[in-house]
Amino acid sequence: MSDSAFIPEYPTGGDELRHSRSSIIVQTRIRQSIWKIAFATLLLMAVGSATRVMNAGLACPDWPLCYGQLVPTQQMNLQVFLEWFHRLDAALIGFSTLFLAGSSWWFRHQLPRWTPWAATFALSLILVQGALGAFTVTELLRFDIVTAHLGTALLFFTTLLSIGTLLLPSSQAPAPPRPQAPKPPTLPSPLLPLTAAVFVYLQSILGGLVGSRWALHQCFGNSELCTVMNSHIIGVVPATLSCIAVIFTIWRNQNSPEFARKLAAIVGGLLVAQILLGTATFKLHLQVETLTVAHQSIGAMLLGSLVVLTSLLWRSHSVSDSQPNNANLVN
Ligand code: HEM
Repeated sequence: MSDSAFIPEYPTGGDELRHSRSSIIVQTRIRQSIWKIAFATLLLMAVGSATRVMNAGLACPDWPLCYGQLVPTQQMNLQVFLEWFHRLDAALIGFSTLFLAGSSWWFRHQLPRWTPWAATFALSLILVQGALGAFTVTELLRFDIVTAHLGTALLFFTTLLSIGTLLLPSSQAPAPPRPQAPKPPTLPSPLLPLTAAVFVYLQSILGGLVGSRWALHQCFGNSELCTVMNSHIIGVVPATLSCIAVIFTIWRNQNSPEFARKLAAIVGGLLVAQILLGTATFKLHLQVETLTVAHQSIGAMLLGSLVVLTSLLWRSHSVSDSQPNNANLVN
């Protein structure tokens, strides 16, 4: 994929102007639908966490229908509702992603070259996710399937965020760095937030293992699976240190664009909230379900913020590399 795929081309004639306008409209529509699907995915993961922590994973005994019906009105209670709503939201996300991939191919001439491929990758993740969702039920919540289900959901969520961020128009993209920045300006590297995102992702998978094996209860109750619980506690160290390195590097670099500073602050806030929520979940032995659900959701938001930061920094580097006379400017 060439860097120029992200650089706006300025129209010179009437046809090009029309093409550029329709490009902007198509990109805006695609981007808006991506944000909606990403939000629905965040909600889906929260509902999935609530479903598990409230023991509602098998509240609908069959798949894909629930008690053989589209809406199981007679059996409806909180647990059935959670599992049923989880499937409804998943189906909506599935169809929206199919539509997204289809329209990305249809309008491929108005979009950066990589867009239809990235949308197709997102669609393939949804297919894997659907299969894992079905196995979760048929294999009676086998822990490795439940964990893989969370891992794929997070991968799908971050793929959407990357596509949406890279499709941001230059005007909505980060403001240029401060004018007093010394020359030659160097942007913070996207590699550091990418590393932090990988650590947070792995930490989330460990968290998924703790949840799906009920390792906290097992460890406190019969001193079993304490290794699983402890690995999640030890995993806090690389995830936290890499996030702190991101925040520190961005805040110390005078050339850091405003968007990077804001995102670094968000990463810091989410990290603190995540550690506090994890500690509370641990100390209260999962008795407050909302805390566990919030722990899952904030973890996904932390991962998402790091992925958005990585994508924006990567794009800024691509633009500045291709504009030698305008180094570091993202216009
Ligand atoms: C960067 C830091 C952290 C991240 C990204 C993270 C992420 C996660 C995720 C994604 C889950 C799965 C939730 C679910 O499936 O519903 C989880 C579970 C869990 N986490 Fe963390 N976590 C972090 C820090 C902590 C800390 C500091 C503790 C405190 C000991 C903790 C304790 C737990 C516990 C007890 C569970 C299991 C909850 C259950 O069984 O439902 N986490 N974590």
